[in-house]
Amino acid sequence: MSGYENHLASWRASPETFWKQAAEQLDWDIFPTRILQQNDDIYRWFADGRLSACYNLIDRHVDAGRGEQAALVYDSPMTGSVKSYSYNDLLDEVSRLAGAFQRAGVEQGDRVVIYMPMVPEAVFAMLACCRIGAVHSVVFGGFAARELAKRIDDATPKLVLSASCGLEPGRVVAYKPLLEEALDLSTHKPDLSVILQRPEHEADLQDGDAEWQEFVEGAEPADCVVTKATDPLYVLYTSGTTGVPKGVVRDVGGYLTALSWSMKQIYGMAPGEAYWAASDIGWVVGHSYIVYAPLLVGCTTILYEGKPIGTPDPGAFWRVIEDHKVKVLFTAPTALRAIKKEDPTGSYKDKYDLSSLRHLFLAGERADPDSLIWAHKLLGVPVIDHWWQTETGWPAIGNFAGAGLKPVKPGSAGLLVPGYDFHVLNEDHEELSAGQIGDLAIKLPLPPGCLPTLWHNEEGFKKSYLTQHPGYYSTGDAGFIDEDGYISIMSRTDDLINVAGHRLSTGAMEEVISNHPKVAECAVIGVNDAIKGALPVAFVVLFADAEEDAASIGKELIASVRHEIGPVAALKHVIAVARLPKTRSGKILRGTMRSMANGEEFTPPATIDDPAILDEIRDYLSNEGYPQ
Ligand code: COA
Ligand code: AMP
Repeated sequence: MSGYENHLASWRASPETFWKQAAEQLDWDIFPTRILQQNDDIYRWFADGRLSACYNLIDRHVDAGRGEQAALVYDSPMTGSVKSYSYNDLLDEVSRLAGAFQRAGVEQGDRVVIYMPMVPEAVFAMLACCRIGAVHSVVFGGFAARELAKRIDDATPKLVLSASCGLEPGRVVAYKPLLEEALDLSTHKPDLSVILQRPEHEADLQDGDAEWQEFVEGAEPADCVVTKATDPLYVLYTSGTTGVPKGVVRDVGGYLTALSWSMKQIYGMAPGEAYWAASDIGWVVGHSYIVYAPLLVGCTTILYEGKPIGTPDPGAFWRVIEDHKVKVLFTAPTALRAIKKEDPTGSYKDKYDLSSLRHLFLAGERADPDSLIWAHKLLGVPVIDHWWQTETGWPAIGNFAGAGLKPVKPGSAGLLVPGYDFHVLNEDHEELSAGQIGDLAIKLPLPPGCLPTLWHNEEGFKKSYLTQHPGYYSTGDAGFIDEDGYISIMSRTDDLINVAGHRLSTGAMEEVISNHPKVAECAVIGVNDAIKGALPVAFVVLFADAEEDAASIGKELIASVRHEIGPVAALKHVIAVARLPKTRSGKILRGTMRSMANGEEFTPPATIDDPAILDEIRDYLSNEGYPQ
């Protein structure tokens, strides 16, 4: 049996023994005796264990003699700076910031919202929260004020941390006005906003604001607070099918156990090696694999403030790999497609020494075989697709650089990760056979690390994930499992789309668009895009008196979505149509429209109300240059 099969067999034989052994990799103040606790459909791992997350992430490496080793390397082509922080430096920065939090009245269990660019202080802030048992909630910088306000209202933080600006190619994003707008919109008002001033654009501070350096100055370094394994470590909001984001809760003990297992067995990492997740701390990939997992196992993590192209060229990733001797790179396929478009022959790679690189991991969206094979030929290392979600917090389907790599099948996301009991079910909850496409579901319990619930919303958790197939967690993805156990992801089964690896809700965009006084109804769908995977396209039906103004209303709608959701929503195309195709019961046929816009085969549902509307939509699409 291979290493992978050994792991699989021991997990299947006894999940509790398997995860108990994995938990031994952490430093516990009280090692748990209750490994898995069940109450109805709600499961908790390591319920009576106690530990400090921050001790496991920083102090124990210093205690073990790794204090001088680089823990965090900040590499910013946006500012032209590279700065390395050792574990000793990290301990100093984090414990002083944690002390400043305590001085400002932040206690264990209090929330701290972090709305920041990719700067070291954002990572210090996340870790300082863990040091004192406060719960951070990081909001991605590409979200606009209203999205930030929703998260502030749900998380009710004591503090909000932000920076004067983020840096996007050709654009400085002033965060302070966005934060002010969010605080005007939110019902909850935090005690204080702490602002990191960046020289590229300084913010005007007002009453209720503190400047970062002054906030930290003179603070007594804080010690690690020991928490229950089941206490919340953070809340990360993710798009749901409506405009209301879901607050995914992560616990301490289960999460760190799973991350530790994954770093060794999935990514094949050892202490002292450099790991780079080219994502953003505002996403789950950033939480788990920029911040928590690499530090947990004593690696060096790279915090990259830049893009795969244009900062300054398509060799940017290869330069970072050489400079920091990166062993594993984790990115989204969209980044490879962007590089491939600018440098199809991969000539920039020849300028750099990539001998440190062992594996390239891809996630966030389906890895198209073309890009996967292109990267494999270019880099000469295994390129591994793997699948997971904000909810799972760590990979659920993949391949095993540490436990023993299985053959890569381009187009498939890989094999199930021990801990995740995958099944493909039809709508009657029946198991489908190999190769048949159905709902991808995971039999309960989920392994450690996955969300135990939604923030202050257990009913919402059950309704969203546990009711569709009783006894299973519904992933929201459709897929199939082949005869060899490889799992392929086909599509979402709901209204979420993936734009450049970013998860977005078309429902949220529809909410913004339907608020326009001239819009009678609308539908937003995700249409295939060669670089970003998908792009949103809005179909709007305008009130009769507004039809002549369709072009200007379209521009207003694009501006509203950017203003209300954020630039990351990337809505660039609005098509005014006379009618939307619907079923007889009034349900808009979004899936059919999506197939038409993508030039795919489709069969209109038997319940369609007026098939002639499909011809009208086809004409609109053809006028707009979509494949027919
Ligand atoms: N703060 C403010 N604005 C942001 C932002 C942030 N943190 N991140 C993105 N934006 C803005 C961008 O500036 C852009 O604005 P624009 O419409 O004015 O150009 C918009 O949001 C869309 O950004 P993005 O999706 O990043 O597209 P892009 O065209 O700028 O870049 C790629 C395309 C492919 C290079 C880029 O999407 C990329 O690197 N993707 C990797 C995906 C990734 O890391 N996914 C995380 C999961 S692993
Ligand atoms: P997020 O919560 O932002 O990580 O988005 C999770 C969703 O992204 C999943 O439910 C999938 O729809 C999609 N996704 C993530 N990784 C993959 C992958 N490797 N292949 C296909 N889809 C993926």
